Amino acid sequence: MQVLALYGSPRLGGNSSILLDAVIRGVERSGGVVERARLAELNINPCIACGGCDLTGECVIIDDMTNLYDRIIEIDRIVVASPIYFYGITAQTKAFVDRCQALWSRKRLLKEAGRWALNTQRKGYFVSVGATKGSRVFEGAGLTMKYAFDAMDMAYGGEFLVKSVEGIGEMEKSVKTMADAERFGMTIMNDM
Ligand SMILES: Cc1cc2nc3c(=O)[nH]c(=O)nc-3n(C[C@H](O)[C@H](O)[C@H](O)COP(=O)(O)O)c2cc1C
Repeated sequence: MQVLALYGSPRLGGNSSILLDAVIRGVERSGGVVERARLAELNINPCIACGGCDLTGECVIIDDMTNLYDRIIEIDRIVVASPIYFYGITAQTKAFVDRCQALWSRKRLLKEAGRWALNTQRKGYFVSVGATKGSRVFEGAGLTMKYAFDAMDMAYGGEFLVKSVEGIGEMEKSVKTMADAERFGMTIMNDM
């Protein structure tokens, strides 16, 4: 099974990256083949709402998202990791999500043409960390990611969320959470 792991934090060696690395270890231990990309290192321009994709299902902007679209529509699993920024995802992750509007349009056009079939085998997962411990800290980001995966024509497989981690690398100190994240990675592979 092929898995695309997207790192959404601009902070190198940050908590969400550490957590995603643990999830990936679980995926790889279960035989998954992982492709990694750091969104902050890619050139992904924001959606400009030009309406081009409404007509064609293709984005008019040519940048690093152009190749990513091809992977998104064929890969078995996507895991997106983003820390919480102001109750949402990071700007880098949001630019990626907004550009998935082209995939939403593509799906709509396929539906209209009677050429779309439901495929519940492809799944997306969300991994996140936040500094605070409020009960609603992941609510906004979680909703955004659910609808993003829907645009990518993927079922929402689940999420692994960790509160109360702030300082860089702090995530590593929680040995139990790291082990749980690895187990979560293994379930991604067995989630049919
Ligand atoms: C611009 C900015 C906004 C943030 N907003 C929130 C927030 O709304 N809620 C929260 O719990 N943590 C917030 N945080 C803290 C981060 O989510 C936290 O430090 C996290 O561990 C960073 O993950 P990273 O190391 O993967 O970048 C914010 C951090 C930054 C830099």
